Amino acid sequence: MYNGETLDPKAFVAEQVAAIKAQVGSDVVILGLSGGVDSTVTAVLINRAIGENLRCIFVDHGLLRKHEFEDVLEQYKGMGLNVKGVRAADRFFAACKGITDPELKRKAIGKTFIDVFNEEARKVDDAKWLAQGTIWPDIAESKSDKGTIKSHHNVGGLPEEMHLGLVEPLKYLYKFEVREVGAELGISPALLGRHPFPGPGLGVRCLGELTPEKIHILQEADAIWISALREAGWYDKIWQAGAIFVPVKTTGVKDGRRTYDNVIALRAVNSVDAVTASVVRIPWEILDKVQSDIIANVDGVNRVVFDISSKPMATIEWE
Ligand code: XMP
Repeated sequence: MYNGETLDPKAFVAEQVAAIKAQVGSDVVILGLSGGVDSTVTAVLINRAIGENLRCIFVDHGLLRKHEFEDVLEQYKGMGLNVKGVRAADRFFAACKGITDPELKRKAIGKTFIDVFNEEARKVDDAKWLAQGTIWPDIAESKSDKGTIKSHHNVGGLPEEMHLGLVEPLKYLYKFEVREVGAELGISPALLGRHPFPGPGLGVRCLGELTPEKIHILQEADAIWISALREAGWYDKIWQAGAIFVPVKTTGVKDGRRTYDNVIALRAVNSVDAVTASVVRIPWEILDKVQSDIIANVDGVNRVVFDISSKPMATIEWE
């Protein structure tokens, strides 16, 4: 916990269920699910306290991983959550059209997310509270005394005109503790073991202007990388992995012909709280297979590189 105490997941769940009941009573609470561990654990915890009165909204911004929206929505429903899936990819691509600056892109994605989420939230009758999966590192990084490092973390994105109160049951926990609470709540290890994934999704891993075509290429390459890590037993040993679309064209040869295509970078890091991160030394055989599978199967890519930068001085995400 943020104050150095050791977490007792069972006691934490009991305390929070009681605290949430006391805080919201029979009011309706809305929550944006992202597919990630933090919002999922928040949802299941609040659902345990207030059941159907928790209304979840899961927005597909078109920047999720391959098949992620459908897969995760199914899992949420299977967990008994009251969840509405909202497909809004076109709006996000329209909002990001022509934008290449990383901060402006984050802001465009963030604003569109808030617009879509608020439209959906307004459709929920009598909502009085907004729940968020904020955790301690989100707060710590957002409040850095050196100023905002990036406009990340979902701290402060409230629909003010709705006058909603805030429910943030995980805000003093580190990520590993969130996973312990999730296990205590019976959430599947596969869901709990998911790597952290940024709010703007593949948008911060697709450099420059976002287009559906570039995101499609990135989704395909990322799926090859992540499934290779899973098959080789590496996925669960590392904090976070992903692919990055680098819109730099280089020459290559395919089927005896010259190509002039984009670069995919692979990233795999270990971390405890995302404030620092070190590169994972993925075995060469895995990297070699992934590079050849990506170049052979993903049109538009003819070169794959592995990012060996640690944080600091690099960040985990490329934008
Ligand atoms: P960076 O790139 O700053 O990322 O080293 C640190 C951790 O935060 C995640 N990340 C985000 N999470 N919204 C989030 O909820 C965001 O906008 C965001 N940007 C980065 C990143 O994936 C890493 O785990």
